[in-house]
Amino acid sequence: MENRYAIILAAGKGTRMKSKLYKVLHEVAGKPMVEHVLTQVEKTHPDEIVTIVGHGAEAVEAQLGDRSKYALQAEQLGTGHAVLQAKDFLAGKSGTTLVISGDTPLLTWETLQNLFEYHASRHSSATVLTAEAPDPTGYGRIIRDHLGIVEKIVEQKDATAEEARITEINTGTYAFDNKLLFESLEKIDTNNAQGEYYLTDIIEILKNDDKTVGAFRMDSFDESLGVNDRKALAEANRIMRERINNYHMSQGVTMIDPASTYIEVGVEIGNDTIIEADVRLKGKTVIGSDVFIGSNSEIVDSTIEDKVKIYQSVIEESVVRTGADVGPFAHLRPKADIGENVHIGNFVEVKQASLGKGSKAGHLSYVGNTTIGKEVNIGAGVIFVNYDGKNKFDSQIDDHAFIGSNANIINPVHVGKNGLVTAGSTITEDVPEDALSFGRARQVNKDGRAKNYPHYKND
Ligand code: UD1
Ligand code: CA
Repeated sequence: MENRYAIILAAGKGTRMKSKLYKVLHEVAGKPMVEHVLTQVEKTHPDEIVTIVGHGAEAVEAQLGDRSKYALQAEQLGTGHAVLQAKDFLAGKSGTTLVISGDTPLLTWETLQNLFEYHASRHSSATVLTAEAPDPTGYGRIIRDHLGIVEKIVEQKDATAEEARITEINTGTYAFDNKLLFESLEKIDTNNAQGEYYLTDIIEILKNDDKTVGAFRMDSFDESLGVNDRKALAEANRIMRERINNYHMSQGVTMIDPASTYIEVGVEIGNDTIIEADVRLKGKTVIGSDVFIGSNSEIVDSTIEDKVKIYQSVIEESVVRTGADVGPFAHLRPKADIGENVHIGNFVEVKQASLGKGSKAGHLSYVGNTTIGKEVNIGAGVIFVNYDGKNKFDSQIDDHAFIGSNANIINPVHVGKNGLVTAGSTITEDVPEDALSFGRARQVNKDGRAKNYPHYKND
């Protein structure tokens, strides 16, 4: 196979986004747009990838790392000028170059592969990827002659009323003969409505040089969506969400309301898992099989094993092991490790703490910096007091211990196996194995004294 190269255009500021963040770094389904583009481009195995950076160059390079080479476009003089900046890497080399914009995050590698193949099969000098747009406003229009042969691309701002009615648009993605691309780039000028060097002019230039230029029309306009403003960003997110959700459903995941279910790229979900409405699964999250995730739950960077049930809870950087149940209204914060068949009930917060197999914290607890063994019962309202304002301290609760309701465990303490802490105790010292521990004042009853208090009613 002949050499393949790719140039990703990512130097623009994205004025229409009205943002402090550079356009191509705006996220779709949890990943910057340019990251989506690079990931798809990589799957077509180019020999070299050059990303054109300008605005936010450092941030874009930090995002993509050494997966790409970078050429700086110090001043944004147009897409043609942007491509020209790759000349030190690519000019004069033989092969085919894919040019793609960093703001078209929905294009798939299959489409890019088809473009490469179509281009090669036609022995073309340039092939533009086009689509039929329901509303072509803002896109370059594909001008064909009476035989249907591509003549040129006209930008919205330069189009006559008649040209503007054309609905076949330039997706901003092309395959070029690499040598001819860099030769022709020297010939473009800025005689247009925006005073920019348009990459799109290359088509007409090659055509006038009697080179074969063509268009590869893709079926789906959705895939080609170019994100120039927030409205298009929302639309891109909607389409990507639909694509991701359809994929998971095809793999055997039930979604009660896919339209309100937000799952980021890269999340894995096992089959026969049920996901209710308004669930958000983000980051590096892995969900097992036969899991139930109730409405309004948010799970970020976490592992949820098989047969877990989660009701309206927030889970971050945590592990929930097989058969456990969590919530409603629980909050698992970083480094919570919820063991097999553990029960975490309502209004329980767990942070940097583990609960062993079969343990329970059913109600209104804070479990922080604590290692809890198997089949331990944490009563209602138990607080692990892990912080003195400066330092965190760790406690350990051994198997089968029972911590009574509303106890305060002042970390660090060690409660031995079968240890029993009575309700309402404040525990500051270790509790030995099998010991019963009271850490509370004795109750005193004073006969008749209630009469001295204002609440008293004499009837
Ligand atoms: C461009 C095309 C248009 C096409 C549309 C598809 C041109 C002249 N127009 O228009 O025909 O329908 O894409 O989405 O090419 N960029 C640079 N340096 C620059 C200018 C732009 O790197 O000097 C980058 C931008 O960051 C962006 C991409 O090139 O990623 C496209 O630029 P943008 O300004 O969005 O072009 P459109 O107006 O969308
Ligand atoms: Ca664009």
